[in-house]
Amino acid sequence: MSRSLKGIVAFAAVGAFALAGCSSERSGDEESTSSATADTQSTVAAEGGTCIDEGATIGVALPQKTSENWVLAEQLFNDGLTEAGFSPIVQFANAGVTEQQNQILAMVEQDAQVVVVGAVDGSQLGSQLETAKDQGATVIAYDRLVKNTDAVDAYIAFDNFRVGELQGEALLQGLGERKGEAPYNIELIAGSSDDANSIPFFEGAMSKLQPEIDGGNLVVTSGQTTFEQAATAGWKAENAQKRMDTIVSGYYSDGTELDGVLSPNDTLARAALTSVSQAGLDTPVITGQDSEVESVKSIVAGEQYSTIYKDTRELVAQTIASVVALQECGDIPINDTEQYDNGVKVVPAFLLEPKIVTQENAAEVYANDPTLGPLTEG
Ligand code: BGC
Repeated sequence: MSRSLKGIVAFAAVGAFALAGCSSERSGDEESTSSATADTQSTVAAEGGTCIDEGATIGVALPQKTSENWVLAEQLFNDGLTEAGFSPIVQFANAGVTEQQNQILAMVEQDAQVVVVGAVDGSQLGSQLETAKDQGATVIAYDRLVKNTDAVDAYIAFDNFRVGELQGEALLQGLGERKGEAPYNIELIAGSSDDANSIPFFEGAMSKLQPEIDGGNLVVTSGQTTFEQAATAGWKAENAQKRMDTIVSGYYSDGTELDGVLSPNDTLARAALTSVSQAGLDTPVITGQDSEVESVKSIVAGEQYSTIYKDTRELVAQTIASVVALQECGDIPINDTEQYDNGVKVVPAFLLEPKIVTQENAAEVYANDPTLGPLTEG
């Protein structure tokens, strides 16, 4: 997958302008918002009023390659940070938590002045991030919150609860469009329980689905309605597929129709669709997230119902703009000071707005995406 550097630079420039435009409006008690807009921006001072050096080393610790967005982030961080004059160290922790802990410590040893973390397990990095802070580094949680530590200065992500709400709404809309009258039989899939995003995704979706379950319009045939029951260890496709196989053979082999599936991302949606089609059932209405290439094709072809567009270029550009701000002795832009309590403190956040994508608006949403658009028929 390759994205043009032109796009990266353009996005980084937009981020830098937004930052320059707001760096003087410091305010400690701005209103929280669940939707990120430029006019709600504020900034947060990195602890100790840090000014990082020109050409500073910037560590970026990414999790496993569990979806395409992470792979793209690696390239965008390398290109964008280099372009901005920094020395990036960007690493995946494919072997898991211990590898990521060691990578962060090694980044600190190499004098990383900012550590950007997409955590494998958001609650297992406290002591490593404290070491980073002790050495004077600024710590930015990227996409996934880090929990139970005050060693994190800011969180930059798409609004996770909103992602879930959009998924819940899409499932209801798709059922109405494709499956006739209620009641509908559905099943629920959640993300990995070590990822701090998985609960807001699930709770956002359930905020839309639970009233319909309570009212009898939706029936979770398996009865597996809790996050714990629905969770998918490691965000692994094979785990979701295995669980769906068991559900399908246990509850849908007698002709009961499976009308819909809540899936938290595209990888798991495709795994569920494989399970369902191997069992010979009709395609259920199914949600997703990440706008992965195969899922976008499936949406255009009328199979997967929806995905979420979280433009990784935007998220990386926002993160790099924060690093640039530190280098200019400014503060990190934020627009939310209430939503992300990590157990020790409310982490100041910059939340970007996710977009729902269905067959109807796919061409429009991806029109300017060099990998996904412009969409052509067939
Ligand atoms: C990201 C999702 C992604 C999932 C699995 C989450 O933390 O926010 O976009 O689908 O990880 O990689």
